[in-house]
Amino acid sequence: MCGIVGYLGKDNAKEIVLNGLKRLEYRGYDSAGMSLFDESSHKFVNFKEKGRIKILEESLTLDHSSMGIGHTRWATHGRVNRENAHPHTSEDGRFTIVHNGVIDNHNKLKKLYFENHTFKSETDTEVICELIALYAQKMPSTDAIRKVLKMLHGSYALLVIDHDDPNTLYAAKFKSPLLIGKSDNGMVIGSDMMALVGTADNYLALDDETFLRVTKNNFTLYDLDGEVLPYQMSPLDIDDFSSEKGEFDHYMLKEIHEQPAVLRRIISKYFNDTTIHIDDEIINTIKSHDRIHILAAGTSMHAGLIGKGLLESFSNIPTEVHIASEFAYQQPLLGEKPFFILISQSGETADLRACLVNLKKAQHKVLTITNVRTSTLAREADFALELHAGPEIAVASTKAYTAQIAVLSILAYALSNQSFDLKRELSETAQAMEHFLDKYEVMEKFAKDYLQKPNCFYIGRGSDYYVGLEAALKLKEISYIQTEGFAAGELKHGTIALIEEGTPVIAIISNDKTAENTRSNLSEVKSRGAKTLTITFESLKENGDEIVLDNINPSLSPLLTVIPTQLIAYYAALHRGHDIDKPRNLAKSVTVE
Ligand code: G6P
Repeated sequence: MCGIVGYLGKDNAKEIVLNGLKRLEYRGYDSAGMSLFDESSHKFVNFKEKGRIKILEESLTLDHSSMGIGHTRWATHGRVNRENAHPHTSEDGRFTIVHNGVIDNHNKLKKLYFENHTFKSETDTEVICELIALYAQKMPSTDAIRKVLKMLHGSYALLVIDHDDPNTLYAAKFKSPLLIGKSDNGMVIGSDMMALVGTADNYLALDDETFLRVTKNNFTLYDLDGEVLPYQMSPLDIDDFSSEKGEFDHYMLKEIHEQPAVLRRIISKYFNDTTIHIDDEIINTIKSHDRIHILAAGTSMHAGLIGKGLLESFSNIPTEVHIASEFAYQQPLLGEKPFFILISQSGETADLRACLVNLKKAQHKVLTITNVRTSTLAREADFALELHAGPEIAVASTKAYTAQIAVLSILAYALSNQSFDLKRELSETAQAMEHFLDKYEVMEKFAKDYLQKPNCFYIGRGSDYYVGLEAALKLKEISYIQTEGFAAGELKHGTIALIEEGTPVIAIISNDKTAENTRSNLSEVKSRGAKTLTITFESLKENGDEIVLDNINPSLSPLLTVIPTQLIAYYAALHRGHDIDKPRNLAKSVTVE
């Protein structure tokens, strides 16, 4: 959701900012813009367009610039149009800004300070720019910016250009993420590590309520009172998986195929021979609590449901799963010693941040499981565990979901007295994933032939039901087919009324105790005309089962059963001609509540 990139230095700011914005495309956006310093006229020029970055790129009339800022907008205040796209420049032409976040008191500020002013856009951002320009008439621009920052309620990651000083860039952060990177050639600022990759050697993730004054070869960090703050940069080693598509047509397909490698990497990061490599302090702290509460959103919440099963069955600790946006404002009654696990691929989801603020106030202990070790939720929690899934670019999450389940299984195991060889079981699962990924034709055919109806159902019991919820989310996210995941036994209590000739129903069957029951439910819908597909394991297969997976440890079955469902979603979207990696209305990192 919304992206920011800025550059100041010896290299070409136009290229760096443009490439940075492209790397942030995966977050979701609906318009894009840049402000570049034109060295011949000695002026900043704004370019902005509704739609894809490609359209913006075609509109750029400058080839080279030493300084520039850019933005991808995901509309929250005001329609999707050129006027509302960032950057915004003050009426007097002196300040240009880009902003991520939401300014809750923007209307109040407009009324108080600009009663007779006509704003050019409908955004909550433009008022920040006008306020800075107003105060800068009476004081140095650093003081004016800091003064305005103190007036803002809400969240911001902000870049500010003062046209009177084209050798300096200002930046500020509160709640929305912002990082600064440094190399011998210049300074780059971005709202996401991906924007810094390739340009910076070292980086610093900014804390809330900090303010930066950046020049071509250095920067100074301040608090909002103007006190200089010390800082320590870290090396930027975005290793791992490349962020290019390579041989694949879509990032989603690439990321689906990366899952065995991700699993192997998790094994290598979390196991020393057969001993588990998780900080004793994390294990001892969880053990000193009597109940775990998992908080998450979307796909991560579905991984949390699988995690609950693993934590309860391996380590006997009662575990509850909550939707973050509900928990933030309807906190249930907690027991004596609750421990909290936040699961978030991005580590930036605003619903979770709202929960974390409350939990910290109440002095609860919190562990974040995330793919981004520099993320807000990782930095602000007491403990963090990394997913090591590499950058996930497609909006629809795949490899981060399986990585979440794998890390949760290792955590659950570390908390338990289990003696089976989890490392070996996970390796066998990676092998089974790989084996299955070659057999994509069945899913492609099912998606093409059967997913023609406007709706679809997944059914399963226990962890298969939870995988069904994730499978349904994946299918609706990218194919726009209305899909529901159902506890197989519950379907007959109402929803079966929707089954008609040709309705697709997909069953996931991984548990020998409930296999018969789910098969009966499948027969019930079949006899009402449903087109069915069964996903099961070698040990449970029956004649006619379409997708048969290699046997693995049943506790780990969700790592494998989800893969055919990801491919079904992928091929359904492909046949419908949708933008698979950037589905409509969705954002990868949802930084508003
Ligand atoms: C958005 C994404 C989903 C994701 C959810 C939670 O809605 O589109 O794919 O599952 O946010 O994100 P998180 O980064 O917290 O896992």
